[in-house]
Amino acid sequence: MCGIVGYIGDQQVYPILIKGLKRLEYRGYDSAGIAIFDQEIALHKCKGKVADLEAHAKNGSVSGTIGIGHTRWATHGLPNDVNAHPHFSDSKSIVMIHNGIIENYSALRKMLEKRGYAFRSETDSEVLLNLIEDVQKKEKVELDQAVRIALHEVVGAYAIVLFSKENPDRLIAAKKGSPLVIGVGEGEYFLASDATPIVEYTRNVVYLEDEEIAVIDRAQGLNIINIKNQKITPYLQEVELQLEELEKGGYEHFMLKEIYEQPRSIADSMRGRISVDGTTVALGGIKDYEQKLINARRIIMVACGTSWHAGLVGEYLFEDLARIPVEVEYASEFRYRNPVIYEDDVVIAISQSGETADTLAAIEMAKSKGATIIGICNVVGSSIARATHAGSYTHAGPEIGVASTKAFTAQVTVLTLMALSIGHKKGTLPTQRYQQLIRDLEQIPSKIEKVLKQNDKIKQLSDKFFQATNFLYLGRGYSFPVALEGALKLKEISYIHAEGYPAAEMKHGPIALIDEQMPVVVIAPKASFYEKVVSNIQEIKARKGIVIGVVSEGDKTVSEIADHIIEVPHTDEVLMPLISSVPLQLLSYHIALLRDCNVDQPRNLAKSVTVE
Ligand code: AGP
Repeated sequence: MCGIVGYIGDQQVYPILIKGLKRLEYRGYDSAGIAIFDQEIALHKCKGKVADLEAHAKNGSVSGTIGIGHTRWATHGLPNDVNAHPHFSDSKSIVMIHNGIIENYSALRKMLEKRGYAFRSETDSEVLLNLIEDVQKKEKVELDQAVRIALHEVVGAYAIVLFSKENPDRLIAAKKGSPLVIGVGEGEYFLASDATPIVEYTRNVVYLEDEEIAVIDRAQGLNIINIKNQKITPYLQEVELQLEELEKGGYEHFMLKEIYEQPRSIADSMRGRISVDGTTVALGGIKDYEQKLINARRIIMVACGTSWHAGLVGEYLFEDLARIPVEVEYASEFRYRNPVIYEDDVVIAISQSGETADTLAAIEMAKSKGATIIGICNVVGSSIARATHAGSYTHAGPEIGVASTKAFTAQVTVLTLMALSIGHKKGTLPTQRYQQLIRDLEQIPSKIEKVLKQNDKIKQLSDKFFQATNFLYLGRGYSFPVALEGALKLKEISYIHAEGYPAAEMKHGPIALIDEQMPVVVIAPKASFYEKVVSNIQEIKARKGIVIGVVSEGDKTVSEIADHIIEVPHTDEVLMPLISSVPLQLLSYHIALLRDCNVDQPRNLAKSVTVE
């Protein structure tokens, strides 16, 4: 997700844009830019942070009282000067910023190129801008009407702000799926992705709704129409939240915000990768390497920490759906143990930051031995993304909390899409089950919304266990990696020792730990081994252990024997990790809070481990 700002009024716009972008840098920070009008459009943009933009702009013209600004979280096109926003239209008469993903940008770009449009960047945003310019030329309409007509052609999410040199007394804004707030001052207007950059000037805001278009004119003020050209009455509200809270979107911590973002981030990781009729998966980033995956002798997942747990889910997915042997390697071990690697091996490197030193080194080692490297990263243009032959970004947006949450579920979503696509292409996944799983996958965001509604119940449960000194997490099959991830989440933010284990393995040692003090979280959804997990729970209860069961809604069996249960919506067991990991994120979050731990920046940890 990116940060966008705009202003029209009597003040000099440059300081307002720069300060606003700095307030929004938590939303994205790989490149930044501004466009200001004073006799002509002055556009300054560069790779890097807003501070780099300031250095870049100081030699240019920054005077003017209308302008737009953007701090980028790359989704299409590397983070560099050319792909930074704002973008000029082909004729350079319109300038625009965009936050979102235009799913059908490729088809639109081909159409516009046939009409003679040339593109300077690799971004989907520039495609949308030239579509608007094309409509304005063809229909001979005002810019706001050109925006309205063009948006009928667009599939995807957008929050855009634009203006033209033909009418520099008017800002146009539109949104669908990405946020856009309009601050209403005395004869001046502020636009931003959220209220953070606005509240120091005015607390009076209008939240633009999906498929609405705002026309902000020096003389006529704010007018809103919708995509059907119907006039909308602006609904003015007062912002209550304080600045610091706003940066966290009203949540107490980035980690909680990112846990709650998962319905959107999972939807974004699927966006543009499932056909509109919902019957086909298509991952553009690996299409030239799909045959390598189909013919792979073996897939080697390489990662660290939570990303390693996502790789473990990937092992179950690829072996189950695509019948390809999979090994999951800790990057730090893999890079040094002189592994046997064949040229028909495919390495899938998983990394949220794309900068983890061990994972990067493991990739280089595997590449030197001839393996094909596919990446699954969250940061576009990161070192790991650039070191791979191909890959798919997770599109989860910046993950600020050190404990990875939405990145994990986005990684698992991308791995699921890959395994579905490869399995079906290989013929190991029958069409009926393939399409059923696609339908089930599209339901996951709404099912996670239901899990999030249990936050208060999970918080109450945390009250009972925050003083525990040890936890055990157990799961079978697809729930085993979730047990490991749940234990890591608890460990890294509450500093309670926790261990994840295959449920059946408990009898081979850990059962000796079970007593009245030991909380045991058992992930026990209705799945292939449900009855066996029930037996494991009975073994724990026979030794006076305390069982917290994560179960499918309506479960009757575990609910009878466990001490506490957290019910989650049911889905196919293949997709269950996406759902069952969420209550464990909330459980660790609330326990850590009760222990007065620094949830977003736990002791000894860093968000990206760029050293060995
Ligand atoms: C996850 O909660 C941890 N912060 C950590 O294990 C992390 O997953 C690991 O360092 C790998 O980071 P990456 O995904 O950026 O490569």
